[in-house]
Amino acid sequence: MDIPHETIHDLLEQELSHHEKEADAIKSARSKLHNIMAPYLGDLDYEAAAAELDEVLASGDKAKLAEACTQFLKVHHSTAERLDYVKEFYGYIFKILGADCSILDLACGLNPFMLPLVELPTSLTYTAFDIHTPRVELIKRLFSGGIGLQGNAETRDILVRPPQQKATAAFLFKEAHRMEKRRSGATRDLIASLNVKHVFLSLPTHSLNGRFDLHERMNRLVESSIQGLGLKLNVKEFVSETLFHLGKNHGEA
Ligand SMILES: C[S@@+](CC[C@H](N)C(=O)[O-])C[C@H]1O[C@@H](n2cnc3c(N)ncnc32)[C@H](O)[C@@H]1O
Repeated sequence: MDIPHETIHDLLEQELSHHEKEADAIKSARSKLHNIMAPYLGDLDYEAAAAELDEVLASGDKAKLAEACTQFLKVHHSTAERLDYVKEFYGYIFKILGADCSILDLACGLNPFMLPLVELPTSLTYTAFDIHTPRVELIKRLFSGGIGLQGNAETRDILVRPPQQKATAAFLFKEAHRMEKRRSGATRDLIASLNVKHVFLSLPTHSLNGRFDLHERMNRLVESSIQGLGLKLNVKEFVSETLFHLGKNHGEA
């Protein structure tokens, strides 16, 4: 699955320090890796998607590009759900960030394919990070197609090497609850280390099967992750995710 060495190394190091038997540590690391890569959330045929993307980008037809991106987004559970309110979601965020901004999309998944579907700020620099290299390569292809932003994508484990570059905002959508299963306190450490004015963190409102309301659990996760960090918090509800806007620099964002 093209998993970066840094991720495997980090997981094994952590699990070996928590288990006496090596076999138990490896079993636990495997299970955490399964949770991180989340194959149960769906995925693309990357070769076919790359060919389709090249074709629509070369055609210069924006409607065709939007249609191809929509099909990609439908394959992944988290982005499929967001499609229902994508314009409202990004409208809310970009109104706060203004016409000229830079964004770090952390554990981005397929989320960058939302960009051709929404109205973008006049000047946007967008850097996407994920540990899944085929996904990152497909996002690079999208960014090289002249879609009205300056984009880059990088294979990087954001918990092992949190991005340190200055940016207007960081996105951390629908992943913090899984990060906490990998390492308790991971979200807090990541937020504290980022060199940005705003963090937009979203979490699901319900379990994957739709049966359990997660609001209380996710609110607790955010509260414990930001306690004492001096952040200004605003909360906006969307149908399937709650968006937590965290103003860094003691609310001066
Ligand atoms: C559920 S998807 C969320 C995607 C996206 N944030 C969204 O809401 O649409 C999780 C993504 O996070 C990536 N991921 C998980 N842990 C990561 C880490 N430590 N560093 C970078 N990417 C990670 C996975 O490869 C996957 O693409």
